[in-house]
Amino acid sequence: MVAAGCGGTGRELEPFSGPDGLAGLDFVTRSLTLDPRAGGAGPRLVEVPGGLVNAVGLPNPGLEHFLATELPWLVRAGARVLVSIAGATMGEYADLARRLSRAPGVAGLEVNVGAPDEVGAGLFEVREPYHAASVIAAVRREFPSDRPVLAKLRPDVSRIVEGARSCHEAGATAVVVGNAVPAAFPDGRAGGLSGPAVGPVALRCVAEVHRSLPAMPVIACGGVRDLASARTYLAAGATAVQVGTALLHDPTTVARLRADLAADPQEDA
Ligand SMILES: Cc1cc2nc3c(=O)[nH]c(=O)nc-3n(C[C@H](O)[C@H](O)[C@H](O)COP(=O)(O)O)c2cc1C
Repeated sequence: MVAAGCGGTGRELEPFSGPDGLAGLDFVTRSLTLDPRAGGAGPRLVEVPGGLVNAVGLPNPGLEHFLATELPWLVRAGARVLVSIAGATMGEYADLARRLSRAPGVAGLEVNVGAPDEVGAGLFEVREPYHAASVIAAVRREFPSDRPVLAKLRPDVSRIVEGARSCHEAGATAVVVGNAVPAAFPDGRAGGLSGPAVGPVALRCVAEVHRSLPAMPVIACGGVRDLASARTYLAAGATAVQVGTALLHDPTTVARLRADLAADPQEDA
């Protein structure tokens, strides 16, 4: 799967996606808010050993623009579109879910309840597992039960099992573990760390969630860049993996990984 915010609108990724383009690919959009969001002031990204620190701040054109332009393009390209949503209030999450439930071509939702503080400035604050669960319940009520609602949680080792359990009980189809990890730019500004450096943290979270909640599908996200890193998560109990930062280094990563998994099908990836 393409991780939220790391595949652009899809158009940027398509030329690097192999002979089938985006066809059949699980594409998670960048997080959409009801109104357009400009994102953070620059610089928004810095490369560090083992990854990136970002404070992009979820820039997006807002729901209306997405529905009119980006979604139809992704659907025509054959992608399986999972729309990532982020709201300033619980009502906004519910509103986004209601409107997306009527939009043709939305395969499912990924609910962003785990953005690092700086990245998610102005969004509904998810501090406790029950905050995340309330958001999931509000979204689930508005979105058809035969389509998936994924809860995307930050890889907080001390709370991840509680968070996943709460979201599962609130109706999430699966959890995505995790997101960028709260970190700092070299100048001290707050941001989120992603890439290979966060892999072992996300791996611990994935393994703990799978051990505690074996019936709950877990989608791993953090530092996936090749077959070996994907297989490590699958061996720990993940049912699928998402690729984020690696696409910014090499946009052919997903195409390569799809081909490698198909050529070496040891697991149900
Ligand atoms: C530039 C950039 C933009 C991102 N935008 C979003 C976003 O809009 N919504 C979201 O849920 N996560 C977003 N993320 C987090 C990624 O989807 C992913 O969870 C995180 O980077 C960890 O995976 P990775 O190590 O493969 O990048 C973003 C990450 C980066 C680096």
